[in-house]
Amino acid sequence: MEGSSILENLQNECATPVDLLNSVANSMIAHMKAGLNVDGARDLKMLLSYVNSLPPKQETGLYYALDIGGTNCRVLRVKLDGKDIDIKKISREIPAELKTGTSKAFFGFIASGLWELVNWEFEEFGIPKDTKREIGFTFSFPVEQTSLNKGRLIEWTKEFNIPDAVGEDVVACLVEAMDEQELNMFSVTALINDTVGTLAGARYKDGDVKVAVILGTGTNACYIERTDAIPKLNSQGDQGHVTENTIINTEWGGFSEGLHLTEFDLGTDLGKQTFEKMISGKYLGVIVSRILLRMAESGEHYTPSFLSTRQLNEMQQDDSDDLEIVGSILKKTFEVETTLNMRKTAVKVVDTIVKRGARLAGAGIVGILEKMEQDSEGLIYGKRSVVAIDGSLYEQYPQYKLYLNEAVKEMLGPEKFENVVIEQFHDASGVGAALLADTSSNVAPDS
Ligand code: BGC
Repeated sequence: MEGSSILENLQNECATPVDLLNSVANSMIAHMKAGLNVDGARDLKMLLSYVNSLPPKQETGLYYALDIGGTNCRVLRVKLDGKDIDIKKISREIPAELKTGTSKAFFGFIASGLWELVNWEFEEFGIPKDTKREIGFTFSFPVEQTSLNKGRLIEWTKEFNIPDAVGEDVVACLVEAMDEQELNMFSVTALINDTVGTLAGARYKDGDVKVAVILGTGTNACYIERTDAIPKLNSQGDQGHVTENTIINTEWGGFSEGLHLTEFDLGTDLGKQTFEKMISGKYLGVIVSRILLRMAESGEHYTPSFLSTRQLNEMQQDDSDDLEIVGSILKKTFEVETTLNMRKTAVKVVDTIVKRGARLAGAGIVGILEKMEQDSEGLIYGKRSVVAIDGSLYEQYPQYKLYLNEAVKEMLGPEKFENVVIEQFHDASGVGAALLADTSSNVAPDS
């Protein structure tokens, strides 16, 4: 097939008119309800977070977090002084070989970052190395929790594959690694999904936050749910002090119903994390690359490499007449010389895939908002409601952000949209986890 007809087909297949987005949002609601009813009922896991209380607005103190995302491993030291937040971050990229290695090597690497913090605090402030510290552990994968600081890894996502960790308590794995490295000055008091950390961290700054979304390497969302709307709660382990509301981690990356897939989505391991693969940073560049490679198949020599999401953004930002940046990115990645026409087509491909991803993410957000509103009329649209977003994709990709916001606005209409604020909270996931590590002073997450 010729490049232009591939593009035309693609644009048709990837179109996301508001009707389609509404039906995605409605299916999302149905799957949310099913997951709250029984574990594993449908696409959404709707995991209990055991976070039934959130850090109060004004606090002072020193908090720590260990944050494992899809790309980086971060140690955070969060110092709160009323409204001021001072964050020290030690960030390291997780080496590729550890993502598919052994549990021991992986958790050993994660734990080792804590020594850097201990040494830094000692050198900077003379804080004795053996000072006791509580940490929140942000673990950005699906975990079935049995208490605030215990949880079994259900499966890996984002192309991680460390088989001997599946089914294990990830806090126990971390503690074992910490013991081996004589890091017993730390105790892990909270195990937190990054969405839940974002909700807590953002809520610290803005009391109207009700939903939190991660749009980075992977994607996910959590929200404040009424405990009486969670039938499966009754059949599950000790919930501790039962409060009126709790935070539910939807694991929406697993959603798939009604999503229109193209042949280019059908590459790897389909059937798992379909929604995530259509909307998050790990995959957008891969999908675009597959399409461009197909277009180039007409005889050119090409190297089957993949564009990164950062490069997609750079391509979309290129406003030069001859699309110079687009050309050099394509040359660097695929080792091909391109004509201006080819470069223009490439930008259209990027736009098509990014727009689809962002609009679908918007539909997911609307699904959650609608579910909350259906359960408690006036809760969302009757007052200011903030959706907190953290993650590199949303933060660093202006066009994605624009498309997502447009879709939410189109779906809700001006009246409902008036009270909905979609706001980015940088570093919220780590800050929230650090705050949640201090379990002594948290208060119930009233909506
Ligand atoms: C994981 C979620 C996580 C999300 C964002 C997904 O792959 O399953 O637990 O919240 O990525 O990091």
